[in-house]
Amino acid sequence: MKGVVLAGGLGSRLSPLTRITNKHLLPIYDKPMVYYPIECLVKAGIRDVLLVTGGNDAGDFLKLLGNGKKFGLKELHYTYQEGEGGIADALGLARDFADGGKLVVVLGDNIIENNIREGVANFFTQPRGGRIYLKQVHDPERFGVPVFENDRIVRIEEKPSRPQSNYAVIGIYMYDEQVFEWIDGLEPSARGELEITDVNNRYIEQGTMEYDILDGWWTDAGTFDSLLHANKLVAEGGANKVPGENPVSPDREQVTK
Ligand code: G1P
Repeated sequence: MKGVVLAGGLGSRLSPLTRITNKHLLPIYDKPMVYYPIECLVKAGIRDVLLVTGGNDAGDFLKLLGNGKKFGLKELHYTYQEGEGGIADALGLARDFADGGKLVVVLGDNIIENNIREGVANFFTQPRGGRIYLKQVHDPERFGVPVFENDRIVRIEEKPSRPQSNYAVIGIYMYDEQVFEWIDGLEPSARGELEITDVNNRYIEQGTMEYDILDGWWTDAGTFDSLLHANKLVAEGGANKVPGENPVSPDREQVTK
């Protein structure tokens, strides 16, 4: 399975921090934000990764990440999203990279405590469709929120003013090749973007969307409060943890050797 990190967008909710750099290059404790979604994929056993970026600072990702060797990647691919088309538009750029196979997609500002090996393994054996992670939160109105009937998700509502559950759909998505068909059929939402929630709802309507409840903490880092929260969580205990593994960052290891 291949992995995609979505690291475009203007990060306008973090202006002026994002006025001269890309949100995903900002620090989360001892590493740039984009390290975490890449590590998330690598620790799930994925070695072939595409980074989708955009805006004015795209070259900085190449300087920082190179060919991905320090993450243990076989290859790190890059592509560029023009404009502000949204998450699903950015994912559309991964079509050739996917080459008809399954993908694990991670939003560049989502950080998790524990590795997702088990969910990825579940998706590997899932015959078709999509798979998402849910996490109970105190502020679901900030996220995509699942609506349940008898433990089945019947739809996801994007940033609802009256959430129907206390769960957020987190920014780690697993899709089969049909995802590109759904993206082709999308219309821009009220905020002018192609919404990943609309993609997920197509799978739900088709009856091929499964979910897992995420174990450990999860946060995004796209607002001042969540950026601070992410820094604290990572500083206190590290992210992308695999039991028994040393959580030191690849760059730090090079320095201390
Ligand atoms: C996006 C998705 C939302 C999801 C969230 C996770 O929100 O649209 O469904 O819950 O990521 O971080 P946005 O980044 O646009 O606020």
